[in-house]
Amino acid sequence: MAVPDNTPPKGEPAREAPPLHVAIVMDGNGRWAKRRGLPRTLGHRAGVEALKRIVEAAPGMNIRWLTVFGFSTENWSRPAAEVAELMALPKRYFESDLARLEREGVRVRVIGSREGLSRDLVKICGEAETRTAANERFYLNIAFNYGGKADIVAAARRFAEEVAAGRATPADLDETRFAGLLATGESPPPDFIVRPSGEQRLSNFMLWEAAYAELIFQDVLWPDYSAADLKAAIAEFQTRNRRYGTVVPDDALAAG
Ligand code: IPE
Ligand code: MG
Repeated sequence: MAVPDNTPPKGEPAREAPPLHVAIVMDGNGRWAKRRGLPRTLGHRAGVEALKRIVEAAPGMNIRWLTVFGFSTENWSRPAAEVAELMALPKRYFESDLARLEREGVRVRVIGSREGLSRDLVKICGEAETRTAANERFYLNIAFNYGGKADIVAAARRFAEEVAAGRATPADLDETRFAGLLATGESPPPDFIVRPSGEQRLSNFMLWEAAYAELIFQDVLWPDYSAADLKAAIAEFQTRNRRYGTVVPDDALAAG
């Protein structure tokens, strides 16, 4: 498999860095609110403001794909009032920002299952996708009612359906084809996944896509997340030595 390589060979001038796919687990809204003696709902609303800031800042930082985790398939188990507030967030976000996203060349996709979402919400998500479908300056994937395991199962089912319909045989399945069946099928894999708020786990986010992503954990709570924090995450990413299971040329020489 061809391996993307961001590092210029020694002695050569740095090439222009390829654009990045950054994925973010937007975490810490509840703790942010608690620290201020506010209800959790206000933490989630402040989280939407952080999302707006980051979507605005990202294109100026050589980021071309941004995937954010807004609501997981496991979040349904939260108290009903909190679930209701979380369900209202896409509307809140698109009402204030969809026109700008559309104008500024952002293609929006809401990835995850539509099952269990209200008809109104399904309509709002569909409208955001349709209105921005021709855009290609920047890609924003909003993972909502999303779970990495569920997405892998959905991809497997889609392939099984192709086989059942006679359009494919089991031998046709390889990693590239399977990746294309995931909800993120049209984006390259994330270069790095950021989780703010101090938690250090993926929580069922982009399980397949994370195979070679760098993981970056930051101590800031999501509602406080700023462009400077994103810049710091990129700087951290740039210190990582991505080897994709191979060895860097210098080490290979030393070993030989
Ligand atoms: C992130 O904030 C929002 C969602 C996961 C939906 P949390 O609500 O998880 O905030 P904490 O982790 O309780 O602080
Ligand atoms: Mg949390």
